[in-house]
Amino acid sequence: MYVTLKEVLKTANDLNMAIGAFNTHNLEMMPAIVRAAEKQKTPVIIQSTIGTASYVGYHNMVAVAKAMSEEHGVDVVLHLDHAKDFTEIRKAIKAGYSSVMYDGSSLPFKENILGTKQVVEFAKDFGVSVEGELGTVGGTEDGLVVTQDQVFYTDPKDAVTFVKETGIDALAVAIGTNHGQYKSKTDISFSQLEKIKAAVNIPLVVHGGTGVKEDDVRKVIDLGIRKFNVGTELLVNWNISSKDSYNEHKENVSNRENVLPALSKIEEIVERKIQLFKNIND
Ligand code: 13P
Repeated sequence: MYVTLKEVLKTANDLNMAIGAFNTHNLEMMPAIVRAAEKQKTPVIIQSTIGTASYVGYHNMVAVAKAMSEEHGVDVVLHLDHAKDFTEIRKAIKAGYSSVMYDGSSLPFKENILGTKQVVEFAKDFGVSVEGELGTVGGTEDGLVVTQDQVFYTDPKDAVTFVKETGIDALAVAIGTNHGQYKSKTDISFSQLEKIKAAVNIPLVVHGGTGVKEDDVRKVIDLGIRKFNVGTELLVNWNISSKDSYNEHKENVSNRENVLPALSKIEEIVERKIQLFKNIND
């Protein structure tokens, strides 16, 4: 079924697991993500930035997500990731995205509350879930760079006010992960996460999932993370795999031949992540 973020995060909470949220950059990646979820018998969140949604078309994204959820019998959420632009957020909601993130994390606290609240109010009428963010996750995403001196962790007291005032369904927290970090290690503050978890009672989200050690993934899930975002690892592997295929094949073969190995790679990575997010020792 095509479902909302709120619904799948309730399931995640009941089962002490996280639902994987995977960034797609095109339509082609979407079936691989859904197939991996089908094999693992879990719901899945497909997320796109405004850039991807504009490239593919909002309605096309929604049509494909809905069709695949039916075809594969998987609960699929289609989520707009890191959106700041109200016009684009409205477009996504009207086109049928089942969840959106308003990212006001770079704004002063009060403005972040105000902007997030406005999105929640608009989304409510469409039955669409909203994720907000407090604190700053470092790194690079869709060309936007947040340097280490601009990073600050989510403050638990502020989180209480933020959740209460905005009415969001999920809260993205800054606890030391970084967007786009592919090779270096991530240093997570588990004690900060514990404090945030003790202070608020809505599902928590980790951004910058690439590069987080498997043991740390299990730990943050045990400490209450319910949505776990992975983007860069998929993108890098897609690019490496399709580059190799393009180099190998003659010009006069179907374009499919170049993309199929990349799809298999995506499916394999997503399946492994979902296994990990189920939080069962395997
Ligand atoms: P990574 O690209 O670091 O995996 O982060 C993805 C993400 O958090 C999307 O919002």
